[in-house]
Formats: sequence, structure tokens, C-alpha cells
Amino acid sequence: MIYLQLCALLVLPWSFSAETNNETFQAFVDMVVSNLTACDNYKLPVNNENLCSVRSSKGEEFRDFGSFDFIIVGAGSAGTLLANRLTEIKEWKVLLLEAGGKENDFSDIPGMALPLYLTDMNWGYLSTPQERACKAMKESKCVCPRGKVVGGSSTINAKMYSRGNKDDFDAWEKLGNPGWSYQDVLPYFKKTENCHIYNPDPPYRGSGGLLDVNYTAPTVFTSIFLKGKEELGYQLNDYNGKQQIGVSQVQFTIKGNKIASGGRAFIDPFMNRKNLNVTINAFVTRLIIDKEKKRVLGVEFVQDGRKYAAKAKKEVILSAGAINTPQILMISGIGPQEALSKIGVETLVDLPVGLNMEDHAAFTGLNFRTNHTLFNDSIEVLLERYLNDQRPLTAAFNADCVSFINVNDRKSSVPNIEQVLMVPPFENSQAIKVLNLKDVKPLSNPYTDMHVWLILLHPKSKGSVTLKSKDPLDFPNVDYNYYAEEEDLRTMHKGVEETLKLLETKAFKSINATYIPVIEICTEHKEGSHEFWHCMIEHLTSTMYHPVGTTRMGNSSKDAVVTPKLTVYGVERLRVVDAGVIPRIVSANTNAAVYMIAEKAADEIKGLYHRSIATGKQL
Ligand SMILES: Cc1cc2nc3c(=O)[nH]c(=O)nc-3n(C[C@H](O)[C@H](O)[C@H](O)COP(=O)(O)OP(=O)(O)OC[C@H]3O[C@@H](n4cnc5c(N)ncnc54)[C@H](O)[C@@H]3O)c2cc1C
Ligand SMILES: *[C@@H]1O[C@H](CO)[C@@H](O)[C@H](O)[C@H]1NC(C)=O
Ligand SMILES: *[C@@H]1O[C@H](CO)[C@@H](O)[C@H](O)[C@H]1NC(C)=O
Ligand SMILES: *[C@@H]1O[C@H](CO)[C@@H](O)[C@H](O)[C@H]1NC(C)=O
Ligand SMILES: *[C@@H]1O[C@H](CO)[C@@H](O)[C@H](O)[C@H]1NC(C)=O
Ligand SMILES: *[C@@H]1O[C@H](CO)[C@@H](O)[C@H](O)[C@H]1NC(C)=O
Ligand SMILES: *[C@@H]1O[C@H](CO)[C@@H](O)[C@H](O)[C@H]1NC(C)=O
Ligand SMILES: *[C@@H]1O[C@H](CO)[C@@H](O)[C@H](O)[C@H]1NC(C)=O
Ligand SMILES: *[C@@H]1O[C@H](CO)[C@@H](O)[C@H](O)[C@H]1NC(C)=O
Repeated sequence: MIYLQLCALLVLPWSFSAETNNETFQAFVDMVVSNLTACDNYKLPVNNENLCSVRSSKGEEFRDFGSFDFIIVGAGSAGTLLANRLTEIKEWKVLLLEAGGKENDFSDIPGMALPLYLTDMNWGYLSTPQERACKAMKESKCVCPRGKVVGGSSTINAKMYSRGNKDDFDAWEKLGNPGWSYQDVLPYFKKTENCHIYNPDPPYRGSGGLLDVNYTAPTVFTSIFLKGKEELGYQLNDYNGKQQIGVSQVQFTIKGNKIASGGRAFIDPFMNRKNLNVTINAFVTRLIIDKEKKRVLGVEFVQDGRKYAAKAKKEVILSAGAINTPQILMISGIGPQEALSKIGVETLVDLPVGLNMEDHAAFTGLNFRTNHTLFNDSIEVLLERYLNDQRPLTAAFNADCVSFINVNDRKSSVPNIEQVLMVPPFENSQAIKVLNLKDVKPLSNPYTDMHVWLILLHPKSKGSVTLKSKDPLDFPNVDYNYYAEEEDLRTMHKGVEETLKLLETKAFKSINATYIPVIEICTEHKEGSHEFWHCMIEHLTSTMYHPVGTTRMGNSSKDAVVTPKLTVYGVERLRVVDAGVIPRIVSANTNAAVYMIAEKAADEIKGLYHRSIATGKQL
């Protein structure tokens, strides 16, 4: 069994360069090493005990936290942007409640996003055991990381900025959501953005926004991948422009060599706004509701062992993400009646909360050996490189290039598979921990190999979020239900075949790229056969971390939780603004779409209440 420590490979051998004598630099190295060591020793929680245990002597009574115009629950991607936009209106007092703490110098380094999995910036969920997926994982459970920090998942994520396809948003509108067509939402994508890439498709890109987007430095494999794809007929393009199909370096949400998270972009520079109250380490446990009027009055939360109640004069907005928002709703009596009665919750509004979950499954088994050696260096050298804007630590999740393709119809403008080149591949001990892999002998080499992750963009299989109990102490059950539909497996397999074509290109031949399995599994099947790849796909599953749809928008409370204006059906003064409202998953990583949703929601809310301020009309 090879079970290397997370940072052992990074720390050794210790090299003594001239930089070592520089105190500032040495302090930086010490900070990183100390954090990585803590990651090694970190044990993921199994419930929310650390957040919601109430000191018994002080815990009986709720303390009054005061009254605000809006209470936003969760300072993640959506919550940070929304809090920023709503506090542009000076008359509005906004309370932003966040269960986690602040970001820091360690989480600012893009290349440390993976280790953040092993810190309390991650809620630490695992999925339920999967029947047709995650078979190489302990108990067939895939991980479900979610950010628990100001910035939320945008702080711990891979920072890939990709909006999706025109067709995605036009489909949202056709599903019964007027106002969400591509033409309607494009201005909101542009509004958020400050784009710095050298080859933008101008009509589609924004330059005055708060969110910085850029490429980072290339690796020696960047041009190999781009050329290989070009040989296969794909064009180099700005995939956030007119045409999504093609190949490109990854566009990241970064500012210089640091991450550009929701916290860093929308909150930190605005902490001097008197009408913005950001309260951290505050775990919201339920909504306060006037049951007769079915009107939301505020929220209860626990902070530092004490219980508080905060009131909202206008609205409570849930931005706790696609997993936690359903939990808060269901504990508060808003959800599927049958499921709620099982956990002893009286149903206030019967809605399909937690159902219709969609997530992008990833296949992590494509490992290519090359005849180059990269980044086999000490942590000091790597950090020196980082401070000079050089890879590998400038790229979150080591993402390098991306290609959107359609493996069923080469002529289609809508992709169904996303290929992500990762250089270097996840270092073995990291992969074991952050993917929940069984203790197996890894065959991949983090210094000579490259990975291409495949992402299934339009899964037919649907998952769910349900509750173990009505106690906020318990983690929710996350069932991805990957590959429940055979078609998903077939599409992924076609993605594998399409990716293997790269090995036949001149570009890939120039580095003698050869397929080497990441671990020894599925050996009962002939390597390369149909059965072999299906077996591999069912074993080496990961989430691409994009759960959506658990509180989806639609025009009927039968199959939707929120209206196209994102207000919750059947209750007053309650809105959901996060990834959960997405009615059909986008053909891309989801963060950009979540920001777009928050921008649009902010305009909607301003339009609804702000005129009333001007006219003095009471709402
Ligand atoms: C590891 C990882 C990698 C990813 N990579 C990418 C990528 O490269 N590109 C991309 O586009 N997308 C990526 N995503 C997805 C993207 O980050 C999410 O879709 C997006 O951040 C979701 O935003 P949100 O506002 O819905 O939720 P979040 O950003 O998760 O925010 C929810 C916030 O609410 C807080 N919260 C939850 N419950 C409570 C409570 N009870 N009380 C108080 N606060 C609470 C949380 O702590 C969190 O801060 C990734 C996600 C992860 C986890
Ligand atoms: C010390 O290191 C820091 C960070 O790398 C750098 O900004 C600074 O210029 C260095 N100082 C000297 C004297 O080398
Ligand atoms: C936020 O509101 C609480 C409760 O009213 C108050 O105690 C706290 O000082 C406020 N914080 C800020 C930064 O305004
Ligand atoms: C990680 O780094 C941050 C600074 O960015 C520091 O405050 C914190 O103490 C470090 N954590 C550990 C465990 O060393
Ligand atoms: C809801 O949207 C669907 C799909 O566009 C449409 O067929 C249906 O008529 C709409 N229902 C209502 C009540 O508007
Ligand atoms: C964007 O990236 C390029 C290339 O990596 C770099 O030269 C440029 O300074 C970056 N721009 C900003 C604003 O960070
Ligand atoms: C990485 O470096 C170490 C120590 O210098 C060496 O033993 C090892 O063979 C190197 N690995 C590769 C793949 O070159
Ligand atoms: C890698 O292999 C290719 C093909 O065999 C060869 O042309 C190339 O010179 C090799 N490169 C290195 C760095 O060994
Ligand atoms: C190419 O790689 C394969 C497998 O790693 C190896 O057996 C072969 O010798 C290499 N060929 C060259 C020319 O380097």
C-alpha cells in the first residue's frame, strides 16, 4: 500500500536557495507548510456538531440580533454578490450570515484549493453509497465538497470560469421561466466580469465588473494539448463567446496570482459600507415563520454556542447552496410532505425540495504518461515559482486546458462532454484523500503524467438531497445517483474514445504520450474493450462539484420550488438565490451561472422595493 502523506512529496527534499535567507519569503513558506501539515492531520467531520452545539447554561433563550431589511443566509458565490448589490442601496440594512470563517493567505493561493478539502473551509459531506458509480471509493461513496467560508464554494473551487451555452438558457425559458433566455441573461454575465484574457470575443465579455477573469501561465503540455485538439479539427477559441465548442487554455477567476472568490471580489473591498453586516461563524438552523400568514419573519442561528434570532423586514434570501438550502427549507416545514412526515416535521408548504438534483459526473481514469518530467521540486522552489506567476501553484486543481465537445453529433453547437487537462495530475496521496479512493496502489506518476478529466454535461440521471432527521446537527443525504440511466454511461464512454484519439496526434506522439491506468482495476476485462471502459467509468467517478436543481425554478409548484422570480411558492418574503434554482444544468462549470443568477435577482429585488422607497409607498 502506498499511502503518502499529503505534503511529504512537496516538502522534501528541502532545498536551500538564496531565497531561503529572505525572511518574508521564509515566513510565507512556513505558513504554507504549516497549513499543509494541518491538512495531513485533519479529520473530516461526520456531522455539524462543531457548529450547532449550544452551551446548555446559555442556550435556552434566543438573543435578539436585531432587525434588517434583508437577511441573506450563506456568503457563498450568490450570497456575496447579492449582499454587495443590495447594499448599493444606502437605505437598506443587509445582514449576511455565514457558517464558516474568513479567507486567508493560504486559501488565496489557487494551487492550494485541493488541500482546502481537508480543512474546516469544507462542510465535509460524502454522498450516499452509489450503485453504478464511485465503485473505487470507500463504501462506494463519492465526496461532496462544499465551501464553508466567506466566498463559499467559490473559495475552494477550481476557479474555472465558464458560462455555458446559449441553448442552456433558452431552454430555461422554454421550461416556463420567462426572462431567462440567453439574450436576457447575457448582460448579467457581462456586468459581473472584468475580463483580461488576450483573445476575448468582445461582444460577449465584460470589462467593468468586480470579478477578474484571466488565463494563467502555461505548462509544457498546454501547447501539446491545444495542438493535438487542433489536429483533430477543433478551433482555439474563447469558449465564453459566440462559439463554445473548441479548445482553449482554462479561463480562471483569478486576480494576479491570487484567487478571485466571491469573498475577495464582492465583500472585502466593501466592508466599510455601514449598511452591510457580515456575521461569520453563524450557523442558520431554521426560518422563523408566521404559520398562519405563511410569512417568513426571520431566521434562527447559532454562533459560538449561543442561539440568536434575527428579523427581516422585507425578505429572507436563502443562498446556502444546492445542498444546504434544501436542508434549511425542510427543517422549517417547506418540502415534500411525505418525506417531511417521516422525519417528524409538520408540512407548511408541500414542495419538491431536494428532488430533481442534477450534477456533472466526472471520469478521472484517463492518465497519459509522457517522456517529460515536470515540477519535481521542493515546496520552496514551487512557491518561488508561484510568486513569479509560474505554474503549478497559480492554477487551482492544476487545471490547464479545456475543450467542449459533442460526442454524438460533431456538427452540434451544444457540447455534451467537457475535457479538462490537468497538469500535473493530482498527486497520489491527495487523490486518495480528496476523492475518497480506497487504499489502492496508484500507478500514475505526478511528475511525468497528465490527466484528462471527462465531464458529462447533460446527465439523464437525477439525484436528490434528503434529510436523516429534523436536527440541523445531522448532515443531509446527498445521492448523486450517477449512471442510473444507461445512456449516461454510453455518452461518457464515447468521450473516452474521443479523448484517446489524442494519442494518435503528432502533438501527443512528440512526447510519447501513452495511456497508463491510474490504478489496477477492471483487469478481468480486456483493456480497451467496451466492458473495460464501462467498468472503469463506474469505478473512477468523481463529482465535478456542480449539484444544482434542488430548489429549481419553474412555473408550477408541482415540479418547481421557486417562481421564475426566485420567490418560494406558497410563502411570503422568502427567496432562494443559489445554484439550487437552476432548472436544467448548464453545459459548463456552474459558478459563472450562479453569479449571473445573483446579479439578476439583485435587479429584480431592487425593481420591486426600491421604487417604493422613492415614492414612500409601504410594501
Ligand atoms: C471543489 C469544488 C470545485 C468546483 N470547481 C468549479 C469550477 O472550477 N468552476 C465553476 O464554475 N464551478 C466550480 N464549482 C461549483 C461552484 O463553485 C458552485 O456551483 C458555486 O460556488 C455555488 O454557489 P452557491 O452560492 O450556490 O453556494 P456556495 O458558494 O456553496 O455558498 C453557500 C454558502 O452558504 C453557507 N451556508 C450553508 N449553510 C449555511 C447555514 N445553515 N448557515 C449559514 N451559512 C450557511 C456556506 O458555508 C457557503 O458559504 C466547484 C465547487 C466545488 C465545491
Ligand atoms: C523577499 O521576498 C519577498 C517575497 O518573495 C519579495 O517581495 C522581496 O522583494 C524579497 N526581498 C529581498 C530583499 O529579496
Ligand atoms: C451586526 O449586527 C449585530 C447585531 O445587531 C451587531 O452586534 C454587530 O455589531 C453588527 N456588526 C457590524 C459589523 O455591523
Ligand atoms: C494557515 O495560514 C493562515 C494564514 O494565511 C494562518 O492564519 C493559519 O494559522 C495557518 N494555519 C495553520 C494550521 O498553520
Ligand atoms: C409553464 O411552462 C410550460 C412550458 O413552457 C408551458 O407549457 C405551460 O403552459 C406553462 N404553464 C403555466 C401555468 O404558465
Ligand atoms: C493576465 O494574464 C496575463 C498572462 O498570464 C498576464 O500577463 C497579465 O498581467 C494578466 N492580467 C491581469 C490583469 O492580471
Ligand atoms: C523526482 O526527484 C526525486 C529526487 O530528486 C527523484 O528520486 C525521482 O526519481 C524524481 N522523479 C521523477 C519522475 O523524475
Ligand atoms: C519523447 O519521445 C518522442 C517520441 O519518441 C521523441 O521524439 C522525443 O525526442 C522525446 N523527448 C524527450 C524529451 O525525451
Ligand atoms: C514510449 O513510451 C512507452 C510506454 O511508456 C515506452 O515503452 C517506449 O519505450 C517509449 N518510446 C520512446 C521512443 O520513448
